Amino acid sequence: MKLGSLDLKNQYLLAPMLNVSTSPFRRFCRYFSNIGLVFVPMLYTKKIETHPKSIEEDLLKIDQEYPIGIQLIGSDPKALKKSIDHLESYKFDILDLNAGCPSNRAIQAKEGGYLMKDLKILNLLIKVAVKYSARPISLKIRTGFNNPVNIKDMAKIINDSGIDIAIIHARTVKSSFREESLDLDTVKSLKEKLKIPLIGNGDIINPISAKYFIDYTNVDGLMIGRESMGNPQIFNQIHEYFINDKIITFKKDYIIYKNYLKIYEDIIDEFLNGISYQIGNEEFKFKELKRNAIWLTKNIRNSTSTRRNLSKVKNIKQLKSIIERIE
Ligand SMILES: Cc1cc2nc3c(=O)[nH]c(=O)nc-3n(C[C@H](O)[C@H](O)[C@H](O)COP(=O)(O)O)c2cc1C
Repeated sequence: MKLGSLDLKNQYLLAPMLNVSTSPFRRFCRYFSNIGLVFVPMLYTKKIETHPKSIEEDLLKIDQEYPIGIQLIGSDPKALKKSIDHLESYKFDILDLNAGCPSNRAIQAKEGGYLMKDLKILNLLIKVAVKYSARPISLKIRTGFNNPVNIKDMAKIINDSGIDIAIIHARTVKSSFREESLDLDTVKSLKEKLKIPLIGNGDIINPISAKYFIDYTNVDGLMIGRESMGNPQIFNQIHEYFINDKIITFKKDYIIYKNYLKIYEDIIDEFLNGISYQIGNEEFKFKELKRNAIWLTKNIRNSTSTRRNLSKVKNIKQLKSIIERIE
């Protein structure tokens, strides 16, 4: 898929997820799966404007993660421009604007999901991004704020803006993650009106739901978030199904689980080489390993008690002693 100057290997994208899709996590998913594009989760333009150094740790070694996007969230055009200028010195491939974050903090700051009800500001921010960024621009939206957005208005903003790709999480900002709130009809209608590629996102958890999403909406690609937590192979599973009509399944097996964690640990160790985190590298590694050890329990049988025990550990030694006992 071609996005401006960027040519993606495939149409599967890893979703930006704050405190989840860190650099080791993105590398881990890519270790197993071919992924067209990954993202650094939202960075606040206000923070970049006032404390540019504060984002350094989020961007460590991103030059090794080709192709990669950086997502910005904010509502002030000046702060956005300053952020774009500041990011210029980093090596990355696409700049994404967040117009979907539903958190109270974002809505109060009139950014993220708030932009779905203030298309004027959204339009202005897109224009700033397109004007000042040397890289392709993507826009991550929702289907609306409380209710579906006016498709004609949204399509016009996107088509006239000069951005290269849009990504839509198929539910409104105000709906929670409930399954019933997924709205593929709005995605389909928007897709019909757009002149640029549209990536679909929301509740894709296996090859069947991926195929259903594409067949129903005709989107050009898929972004996957939560399923990748504990299942780094989801992208390949979907790809295999689309290309060879084959569903790859994995037995729930503690050997697979331990192997995943060994690979994750090696990835963290390699990533940390030459880096020094403020919280300490040991603490960084512990946090990374702990949460992934918990998510990856979906690969073992009787995982509830293991998950509970893992959630209580306070250091790597305790974590490893639980993992060793799993069988
Ligand atoms: C823990 C978590 C953090 C998230 N952080 C971001 C973020 O930084 N930027 C963003 O655009 N979306 C964020 N999202 C939303 C996801 O990118 C995605 O749109 C959403 O999870 C729906 O996709 P899924 O059903 O495949 O998980 C986050 C979601 C989760 C669960």
